[in-house]
Amino acid sequence: MKSDKSPQVRDVFSSKMGVIAAAAGSAVGLGNIWKFPYITGVYGGAAFLFVYLGFIALIGLPIMLSEFMIGRKSRSNVFGAFKNLAPNSPWRLVGILGVAAAIMIFSFYGVVAGWSIDYIVKSVTDSFATKSPDELGSMFTHFIENPWLPIFYQLLFMVMTMAIVIIGVKDGIEKYAKILMPILVLIIIVLDIRSVTLEGASEGLNFLFRPDFSKLTADGVLSALGHAFFSLSLGMGTLITYGSYIGNNNNLAKTALQVTIADTLIAILAGIAIFPAVFAFGIEPSSGPGLVFITLPNVFQQMPGGFFFSILFFILLTVAALTSSISILEVVVAYFGEELKIKRKPATILATVMIAIVGVFCSLSMGLLKEYTLFGLNLFDLLDWISANMLLPLGGLFISLFIGWFWGRKKVEEELAKGAKLTHALISTLIFVLKFIAPAAIAIVFLNGLGFF
Ligand code: PHE
Repeated sequence: MKSDKSPQVRDVFSSKMGVIAAAAGSAVGLGNIWKFPYITGVYGGAAFLFVYLGFIALIGLPIMLSEFMIGRKSRSNVFGAFKNLAPNSPWRLVGILGVAAAIMIFSFYGVVAGWSIDYIVKSVTDSFATKSPDELGSMFTHFIENPWLPIFYQLLFMVMTMAIVIIGVKDGIEKYAKILMPILVLIIIVLDIRSVTLEGASEGLNFLFRPDFSKLTADGVLSALGHAFFSLSLGMGTLITYGSYIGNNNNLAKTALQVTIADTLIAILAGIAIFPAVFAFGIEPSSGPGLVFITLPNVFQQMPGGFFFSILFFILLTVAALTSSISILEVVVAYFGEELKIKRKPATILATVMIAIVGVFCSLSMGLLKEYTLFGLNLFDLLDWISANMLLPLGGLFISLFIGWFWGRKKVEEELAKGAKLTHALISTLIFVLKFIAPAAIAIVFLNGLGFF
């Protein structure tokens, strides 16, 4: 562990690989494997994918780099970061927005991670065998509507997250993420091979890769933007917080690029594993949050070694969720720790309990409380929608304005020169995007998605 010359002694990631593992571990999660396929299905397939990819490159990457810079320069949690870099200004409110988003996201994220744990158990007990696609569908629906079991697994997952965050990020998750993430990629590739060789697979690949832009709606474009933020862990200070643990010798631009590519590839690989199977088994591509939990068991059933692969897959899905959820919780814990001066352990417990209370209602909103809706959305969908489609893009908007207008070129150059040599042209492009393109695009998509135009 290296210490930094900042006034407080803070943790620093131990190596370049460690930084990538932690940041990619945060980015790669349920967003890629659970959410990306299902919202791509809901919004009509390839056209959604292409818009999403555009947002990743044009807006996601520059904002990721901005978050890293803000974090590393300030050596602080999301609230403290803006407070340090822009003293006595309202910029710190962006930090509050981030902490609120973190609480909302973890509340529903934990529910889905809990489903994943239950599906490890279902795999081990060979519960998918001999079931028809319909039966696998109703097995999922029955399970999530049950008031007890999903909550049990959700709380179990939250306690696991809490335990790791208490220990600290470096010694636990950084180490395991390095080993486990490559295994996850491998398994997805095996599933891809099985899925694309199913009869009728090409229809699924067409759905995923042949765009029909007439299917695109304003809501779809907003969701593509929101998901770009969600998937890259942007807009709420996760990567500001992680950036604050990155050493000054790290090439931030390269790290951001690598993390973005890894995250995008894994989402696409997940799509390739799922859509051919969706069409081959006659499942509705727009079936929503259950898509992965219904489709993949069908695939596992149809492949040699499926029993074994299903166990491994759901273990790794849970691990991928874990490396993301710790980064979400860390935003709140770093804030409680540094701003409210609560020690790491009680801060982590306090944050987890707060989130667990909201989380339990999220879980219940799938069954017992599903009649209680707002704008037609139950609590689970509502928190997902507000955080991903509103709070994260808004956070991203402020972050790009902060770097583009408030910080300006000189400071950006200074920060990026640590550990890297970037060309003038690259920096000019970055500044231009952060000043004009990203804020304008976010504002337009946002207002359009809310029905203002
Ligand atoms: N990026 C994570 C995923 O794709 C989720 C996440 C969102 C993590 C926001 C941190 C912050 O699963």
